[in-house]
Amino acid sequence: NWSTGSIIDEQVARIRAQIGDEKVICALSGGVDSAVAAALVQKAVGDQLTCVFVDHGLLRAGERAQVERDFVAATGVRLITVDDSSIFLDALIGITEPEEKRKIIGREFIRSFERAARLVSEEEGSVKFLVQGTLYPDVVESGGGEGAANIKSHHNVGGLPDDLEFELCEPLRELFKDEVRAVGRELGIPEAIVGRQPFPGPGLGIRIIGEVTRERLDILRRADFIVREELTSAGLDSEIWQCPVVLLADVRSVGVQGDQRTYGHPIVLRPVSSEDAMTADWSRLPYDVIARISSRITNTVSEVNRVVVDVTSKPPGTIEWE
Ligand code: XMP
Repeated sequence: NWSTGSIIDEQVARIRAQIGDEKVICALSGGVDSAVAAALVQKAVGDQLTCVFVDHGLLRAGERAQVERDFVAATGVRLITVDDSSIFLDALIGITEPEEKRKIIGREFIRSFERAARLVSEEEGSVKFLVQGTLYPDVVESGGGEGAANIKSHHNVGGLPDDLEFELCEPLRELFKDEVRAVGRELGIPEAIVGRQPFPGPGLGIRIIGEVTRERLDILRRADFIVREELTSAGLDSEIWQCPVVLLADVRSVGVQGDQRTYGHPIVLRPVSSEDAMTADWSRLPYDVIARISSRITNTVSEVNRVVVDVTSKPPGTIEWE
């Protein structure tokens, strides 16, 4: 595509001019924006870039492998992964309040990233620049947008405060999401990353209603995997904006399986359609798709004995439950 090609050429030239022969670092979140920003910088300055992926233990099934294997294969980028999941999960012990979870996860993320940055500086030489996947709408919104932005502290894990001692490199600052996706495709980033639906930085941590524990994460991860697989195979990925899967960890209900009484947890499906996540409508998923999801989850995730669908629009509900 001609215009996508010229966007890439222009940004690559700008990045080279900005970075010169300095070292640069980029935090990957697994999402589209940080991946495309990193790929552009990699194209511009190659080995001067090191990417950092923090595994906070709140990832979905396969996410870490997708970054470690598929993204690296597509871009040839140098990547270091830090597994700080124990640190995050320890810090979350006993925490149930959503904003408190976000604050803790955001704080630990910054600490993890700073440790990783120090490591990179020791090995590669002092790092001067930090890549951020800021998009044009983010630039406009941070011009003082009040209201919805204050309902939840959208700590964009993967985005960082700029009091870190780096200069920022923001190659997506003039682009909209669809342009970012087009650039990513042109750069050969796998569709599974480029076409990815939004996923919150605090990850599964805000999709467990109640305390976050390893066992609960494991239950939610297995249910979430089934939902994603069924939505994809039904060809619904581009139709729905995203579909949070939520574990009501403190709720139990009585069920029956075979002639066994069960006392398990409900899983909530929250499929929504939206233009920009500011408002949303609940998606009218085909009943047969819901039926397949429900029977697969209750047949294979033994801790779950009910699947329910959230039919609330935003407002009054938000997309995520926390
Ligand atoms: P809500 O729940 O506020 O979500 O209707 C709107 C959009 O934002 C995502 N979201 C987050 N993203 N950090 C993020 O990076 C967060 O803390 C966070 N909370 C919600 C949500 O998935 C939806 O796309």
